[in-house]
Amino acid sequence: MADTIDIQSRRYIGCKAKLLPWIFNTIQNETTNIKSFCDIFAGTGVVANEAIKKYETVLVNDILFSNQVIYKAFWDNGKVSKRKIQKLIAEFNSIDAKCLDDNYFSLNYGNKFFDIATARKIGFIRDYIEKETNNITLKEKNILLASLIYGMDKIANTIGHYESYIRKEIKPRDLKIKMIDFQRLKNVIIHQEDSNKLARKISCDLVYIDPPYNSRQYSRFYHLYETLVKWDKPKLSGTAMKPPLENMSEYCSSRAKNTITDLVQNLDTRYLVVSYNNTYNSKSSSSQNKIQLNELNTILSSVGKTKIFEHSHHFFNAGKTEFINHKELLFVTKVK
Ligand SMILES: C[S@@+](CC[C@H](N)C(=O)[O-])C[C@H]1O[C@@H](n2cnc3c(N)ncnc32)[C@H](O)[C@@H]1O
Repeated sequence: MADTIDIQSRRYIGCKAKLLPWIFNTIQNETTNIKSFCDIFAGTGVVANEAIKKYETVLVNDILFSNQVIYKAFWDNGKVSKRKIQKLIAEFNSIDAKCLDDNYFSLNYGNKFFDIATARKIGFIRDYIEKETNNITLKEKNILLASLIYGMDKIANTIGHYESYIRKEIKPRDLKIKMIDFQRLKNVIIHQEDSNKLARKISCDLVYIDPPYNSRQYSRFYHLYETLVKWDKPKLSGTAMKPPLENMSEYCSSRAKNTITDLVQNLDTRYLVVSYNNTYNSKSSSSQNKIQLNELNTILSSVGKTKIFEHSHHFFNAGKTEFINHKELLFVTKVK
């Protein structure tokens, strides 16, 4: 078993990890002279991570706080002592959860997303990291938080996100934190900004665009990591114990079409590469696409010559969203 964690070892809706060879082969065949690459809706960061191996400069962006912490943990050029991190993680792993009192995390999420003892352990570790802030560098803090998130994802009592938890008795599962496989890079520029505001400030050879296409807000699906990272301990509500609304995406609203039009018209780039999947036939209204295939084609064609590539793959889903012909598409636009 590997003793470090790589960036794709995480459950995240819409993660493109399995599609990377196809995406980058298409980019290679359809573009020339790419030096700077921007992943403007980076999610897990797996696309940016591949781009880092290929291009001189990579810009990575997402609105979520937890994604920002993960990008900085993996790539930021800040100072870090690997030994110090290893020692702290070993200490965290040796904590006996049975000896801990309740804390903010266990009071809110215990016996919901984690068994009560594990929830106490996570809350204790998070408080500890906060108290150590003056004794560790920002890069070290981000590595500890990212390693904790990846460890939590492995044992969370969910189907992969925090919209809800599984309502059965939770079997205690040991939290095992492993250090993420971090690097220190000078050529990765990290942003946490609304895509359309950022678009007006940057210039890149290629911008990869993978926004949400339905009404499901990522800030609500991954709220627990947002609360964990910010650690301002807000009052949480509802059965899933969510914080007050923050970072709600226009791409999940009825304004999605105007928003993506505004984005592509304001990017200073030679190529737009846009991921899209045909979930709009879905029976569940929350997973119906806000932008239809032909609408996206019209929007992209208005800024340049556009080609569409298709990657068919069988997709099975136990819930309402059954797509027999789930297709992943990639638009490549050579901007005028
Ligand atoms: C489909 S996911 C991207 C998945 C990513 N390509 C991957 O492979 O992991 C869409 C991402 O866009 C982010 N997002 C949504 N609206 C945004 C906005 N207005 N500006 C920046 N990021 C946004 C979400 O937080 C989410 O992580």
